[in-house]
Amino acid sequence: MSADDQKRRSAEGALAYIEDGMKLGLGTGSTAEHLVRLLGEKVKAGFNILCVPTSERTAALAAELGIPLSNLNETPALDLTIDGADEFDAALRLVKGGGGALLREKIVAAASKRMIVITDASKKVETLGAFPLPVEVIPFGCQTTAAKIEAVAASLGCTGRISRREDQYGEPFLTDSENFIYDCAFGRIPDADELAKALNLIPGVVDNGLFIGIADLAIIGTDEGIQLVSRDNGESPR
Ligand code: 5RP
Repeated sequence: MSADDQKRRSAEGALAYIEDGMKLGLGTGSTAEHLVRLLGEKVKAGFNILCVPTSERTAALAAELGIPLSNLNETPALDLTIDGADEFDAALRLVKGGGGALLREKIVAAASKRMIVITDASKKVETLGAFPLPVEVIPFGCQTTAAKIEAVAASLGCTGRISRREDQYGEPFLTDSENFIYDCAFGRIPDADELAKALNLIPGVVDNGLFIGIADLAIIGTDEGIQLVSRDNGESPR
């Protein structure tokens, strides 16, 4: 079974957690896209839901599928957010932002009573950091900010190449909020909790891709079915 089949399987598993009438945060990325498409089918069949998307990309797809959309100013409190991840560990700490949407993803998840992560089996790691950590940075003074990121990270045992993300034309990648992303190839993040806090204290850093204490449940698509990992209770195969 391919990673994409596993992603679809995890998205199918997440449907069981979406109740009629819910206010739902919709994630970004290829796994979240499976969920949006499945939700579109349910809406077509009469399911009642109001969704807040975490990116312009997800908003465009959801609108195309006829899913009713809102935003956090109109709908400030959500029941649930379902989103993908680039990595997660046993404590359900996540690295996100591979698709460049980490800021809105974190704001939407934080506005939700619960967050469910949907992933393929490759995303589960012992120690976070193999996936380069995305950090969203304001363009003004970005090289100074990047130097500070490097110094702060090194003081917490994280070293490696820090590079500004580029788009397919070799231009700086711009987030939906028109900021840059610096991808930090640390290889290993020994203290993710401290790094997440320290990075966000640097002037010019808008947010970083570490989601700590936010996700409640991971639904992992595997070749055998789905596996659940909950923040409180550990693993329970199903
Ligand atoms: C986007 C994200 C995505 O959730 C993450 O990159 C996972 O993507 P995919 O589902 O395509 O593997 O954080 O900013």
